[in-house]
Amino acid sequence: MKLSPRKPLSVWRTLNLDDFLMGVPHYPEHVDRSYWDLDAKRMAEAGFNVVRMAEFAWHIMEPHEDHFDFSLFDEAIEGLARHGIKTILCTPTATPPRWLTDKYPEVLRVDAHGRQASHGSRQHCDTTSPVLRTHSQRITRAMAEHYKNNPHVIGWQTDNELNTTTSESYSASTLIEFQKFCRAKYQTIDALNFAWGGDFWATAYQTFDQIVLPLPSNPSYLSPGHMQDYHRFLAFATARFQHDQVEILRATNAGWFIFHNLGNLADIDFRGEFGQDLDFIGFDIYPFLYDEMRRNGGHTIAQALHLDQCRSYAGNFIVPEQASGLGSQPGFSSSVPEPGEMRRMAMTSVSRGADGLMFFRWRPAHFGAEIYWNGVIDHDNVPRRRYEEAKQFASDIAKIKDKLLGTTVRMDVAIAGADFDNQEAYKTYAIGLPSPMQDAALLHKACYESGIACGFIHPEDDLSRVKALYVPHWVMWKEEWSAAVEKFVAEGGTLIVSAMTGTRDENNHIIRTQAPGTALSKLTGVRVYEFGPLAAPGADGLFAGFREGGIGSYQPSPRPAASSASRTYTYTIGNRQFEAGHLYEKLETEADVQAVGTWSNRFLEGSPMLTRRSHGKGQVYYLGTYLTAPLADALRGLLMADGVAVPLVEDLPAGVEVSMREAEDRKLLFVLNTTHEEKTVKLPKGADLLTDNGVEGDTRLAAYGVLVVRV
Ligand code: GAL
Repeated sequence: MKLSPRKPLSVWRTLNLDDFLMGVPHYPEHVDRSYWDLDAKRMAEAGFNVVRMAEFAWHIMEPHEDHFDFSLFDEAIEGLARHGIKTILCTPTATPPRWLTDKYPEVLRVDAHGRQASHGSRQHCDTTSPVLRTHSQRITRAMAEHYKNNPHVIGWQTDNELNTTTSESYSASTLIEFQKFCRAKYQTIDALNFAWGGDFWATAYQTFDQIVLPLPSNPSYLSPGHMQDYHRFLAFATARFQHDQVEILRATNAGWFIFHNLGNLADIDFRGEFGQDLDFIGFDIYPFLYDEMRRNGGHTIAQALHLDQCRSYAGNFIVPEQASGLGSQPGFSSSVPEPGEMRRMAMTSVSRGADGLMFFRWRPAHFGAEIYWNGVIDHDNVPRRRYEEAKQFASDIAKIKDKLLGTTVRMDVAIAGADFDNQEAYKTYAIGLPSPMQDAALLHKACYESGIACGFIHPEDDLSRVKALYVPHWVMWKEEWSAAVEKFVAEGGTLIVSAMTGTRDENNHIIRTQAPGTALSKLTGVRVYEFGPLAAPGADGLFAGFREGGIGSYQPSPRPAASSASRTYTYTIGNRQFEAGHLYEKLETEADVQAVGTWSNRFLEGSPMLTRRSHGKGQVYYLGTYLTAPLADALRGLLMADGVAVPLVEDLPAGVEVSMREAEDRKLLFVLNTTHEEKTVKLPKGADLLTDNGVEGDTRLAAYGVLVVRV
């Protein structure tokens, strides 16, 4: 497998490997040696080329401080290599051994209630701790040195799902590290006091040593500036912890690739040092964690959403852990993918940017906290349907990989994403409003269901390939991004700026000019006169909103309104009644700004709610409220009526999802049936690469069936 130099982070980046990584995470330390050779043989027969191992095996590789024993993994790697299987090793720092936590208890996390983490599960140690960092460097160096000339070890995963169990720590050493971070960032205590607003509630400090960790509700509300910097610090410390390892690995063998497998995505700034350090990003996919019992049908859209979001950090990625079967820990259990569904879910990952995929896990454990987490092979050592599906998927990949590698995922409608500060700033002062991602998910869903290529992109990335950009309530809008979006619009793009965007500066202070700030006001022709929450439907207050005015021929399709449990309200569009969400803004507009929709009752009646203005070859919308499902649908309709968003497949049946991967000379249309029933899909002319059959017009798609059509 050849590794080429990595390019800068971009949603449009492809993997710098010349082959598709196909395999499984494997835990030889859980498996009787009598199975090892058969395991390797079966993997090779399934078409795998790689395993990932050792992320929880520190205690085996270093049973006593500074005494190393790699024999188990040496033997396992050698045995797999005999069958042509390469190995990705992991730094084992998600589970420091007991001798370490016993001798150096200061490495343990402490929660917000002062409770020190106990040994006995995982992610118990604090990645901000200098003592842990020293040990992490030691084990990484020892592993790297031991394997530096081993031709079967081709790359590394750092740690395992950093920050997934928890990202926070409030230990004595965390405090010292936080104080150091603040000192380096602000240099003088006056600068910090200004940034955090020290004159509010006497939260000013005289020295950096007086700074405290922001303990939630202890007893009252914290400064948004203080909170923002604590989370920036956690992200900085997580990147630093990983950087220690990356530096050692790269210095030892420059031919290794390095990635991390993302889990819950807490307190990691992927577009910062964390992502820049890696060759590519790995993202673990367990769709049924979002729809454990198939009650809400949400596992398909959740998978698509997470993949599209992940791609915005660093482009194409690998899936180091793709769900294969039942997923369970003592507190929960997911549904089991039905026959054909494991392959379909894996192909969804590929359709949205995966250039490598490993099914979690080769064998299930017979002991420990995940005994009911299925693997490819069953507990009784019998390969059943999951093995057959993994094998089928590997043969699918073998058929398409030459055309697949080097392609990126098409995105016509983009949502601003991948910005650490904006995700965090929302949390520091949420006032009951949805997060940017919760809001964005509504537009993403509307596009997903209509077969419109939709994803996420950072405004600093190359916008030239997208047609529309929606900014979901980014309170911390940087002025330099305005120049990028202005250029995007001038060249023909459609920009939609939504309520509250650009209202705070990077200290989390409210800006001192009218929202959405000088540059965005100039571009949109809109200034916010006032804002406030909407009343509940039927309550005594403003709750309605939005009359047609320029919506064109678009009629939103009837979809169920958002659940009444959420804070939703009603508005009208095209003489129909809809629900509107959460917040109103009263807008002042320039003369050349058109009101596409207006508020329709109480003191705002007739005042603009959604505006449009032409600029250069493109146009800019401003939306003075939050999305609801019907409003997201209406926006999608607007983009369709404007000719900006065109579905990849017309009249897409419910339950069928589509995505396109493309390069200059080719387009691959992925058509995936996410249901247990056969579907008929109207396809453009092309050839299915999996069967070599030509397709055109009405085409049958079996239950959980998959087509990869070269169009
Ligand atoms: C992942 C984790 C794995 C395993 C898996 C199934 O989040 O990385 O180690 O725990 O979930 O629970």
